[in-house]
Amino acid sequence: RILILDFGSQYTQLIARRVREAGVYCELHPYDLDAQAIRDFAPSGVILSGGPQSVHEAETPRADPLVFDLQVPVLGICYGLQTMTAQLGGEVVPATHREYGYAQVRARGHSRLLRDIEDHASPEGYGLLDVWMSHGDRVESLPPGFQVIAETENAPLAGIADEERRFYGVQFHPEVTHTRQGQRIIERFVHEICGCGRLWTPDNIIEDSLATIRAQVGTDKVLLGLSGGVDSSVVAALLHRAIGDQLTCVFVDNGLLRLGEGDQVMSTFARHMGVRVIRVDAEERFLGRLKGVSDPEQKRKIIGNTFIEVFDDEASKIQDVQWLAQGTIYPDVIESAGAKSGKAKVIKSHHNVGGLPDDMNLKLVEPLRELFKDEVRRIGVELGLPSEMVYRHPFPGPGLGVRILGEVQRHDAHTLRLADHIFIEELRRADLYDQVSQAFAVFLPVRSVGVVGDNRQYAHVIALRAVETLDFMTARWAHLPYEFLDLVCRRIVNEVPGVSRVVYDITGKPPGTIEWE
Ligand code: XMP
Repeated sequence: RILILDFGSQYTQLIARRVREAGVYCELHPYDLDAQAIRDFAPSGVILSGGPQSVHEAETPRADPLVFDLQVPVLGICYGLQTMTAQLGGEVVPATHREYGYAQVRARGHSRLLRDIEDHASPEGYGLLDVWMSHGDRVESLPPGFQVIAETENAPLAGIADEERRFYGVQFHPEVTHTRQGQRIIERFVHEICGCGRLWTPDNIIEDSLATIRAQVGTDKVLLGLSGGVDSSVVAALLHRAIGDQLTCVFVDNGLLRLGEGDQVMSTFARHMGVRVIRVDAEERFLGRLKGVSDPEQKRKIIGNTFIEVFDDEASKIQDVQWLAQGTIYPDVIESAGAKSGKAKVIKSHHNVGGLPDDMNLKLVEPLRELFKDEVRRIGVELGLPSEMVYRHPFPGPGLGVRILGEVQRHDAHTLRLADHIFIEELRRADLYDQVSQAFAVFLPVRSVGVVGDNRQYAHVIALRAVETLDFMTARWAHLPYEFLDLVCRRIVNEVPGVSRVVYDITGKPPGTIEWE
């Protein structure tokens, strides 16, 4: 296992995902993780991430010196390289030429880290690598025992190594996809230099989780709020395999789901997999509470609170439950750890489930706590969930409640469902669904004039939104083909009563958010 110490780079999670993709378990911790915790983790190797600081600033973050005494390999990336240099007796200076973005690195052939890894061969016999750089400082003189293994025009010491102690540092970012050989470099480090095998595979993750769940809950009963989203679905499949009928799922239909979604959840889990699922039809209750409310945050709050109420009512009818299962995944754990220590930079305020009242006294079982989203998906497929479900676009907890602008009316929800279904169906048919990150329709509570047949019709407007994004923090609108948009528009206007106009949203994020509310 690999320990990653986080100095605050926006790419640190990517390092962890790369290591996991290489089939090696790793954990990400704040850079100041104390010596005892490092010893307890017993890493086979340590990676020091990049970070926004300069090693010259007064309170410069440093790794615990124990890291360099563990007798295990260390890889420093960007700031990680600089702090390693400074901590081991070398010198780092502010660069006269800052480097951001693409750079070409000349790798010297002898290093274990970069040997035979190249994008191009140079006439002088160097390996050339296309990499992504982002740094303001550079290494000026090597710590004792180190040699140069890579250089660029502006940074003669862009890669350094002490082969004997197995300490390596690179100024560029192997974890980002712009560094084309990045995955190979990470694999070289974790497999060959640290000696970690490819043991972190979907099969093994499942086997491990089953054993952990069984040991944790024993013969107790477990309750799960199943939403139909990826995380809760995978938790349901995993728990069902681990403990069978000890699991009861509660699926709340809030009347704000997409077309046929409730039936699909029931058919996948209850009918096909034999999971015990209680479906609660709570449309009346939700729409009743939302009557007359048009403020988006207010709507979110009402939907969240009503969910907890309905879920509690159902849960209290089930006897002798000791555990509540939740689909918390690793990025949530990292984010909230960061929030507690005051180090996180961006925090999402969205939460689907607020939690249960304390008097239920349920213990928490969270079998996905160590997994990234792509790992959750892979084990979902392995557990037999349909891939359309596992690779579905994200859907917000408040559902269509935040896609019907203003007050939510039952009839408008119906209209939106039909339009959204056409859009998604056509995206799948045209093989575009997996090329966009999220796509949906929005109901606009305005009327515009249209001509349907020989009649003028004063009817509603549907907006279509499709975005491409990696992290949902920033996004660009998807450049869907005009012919495709034309087809979707014609189908919606022809097939959905009460809609006379369709528009396509071409706002990026920022400044627009992905959702309209
Ligand atoms: P925005 O609209 O903030 O959305 O650009 C970013 C991502 O978050 C989803 N989203 C939500 N998810 N509850 C959720 O569970 C919410 O209230 C909520 N609001 C937005 C949105 O669909 C997108 O994927």
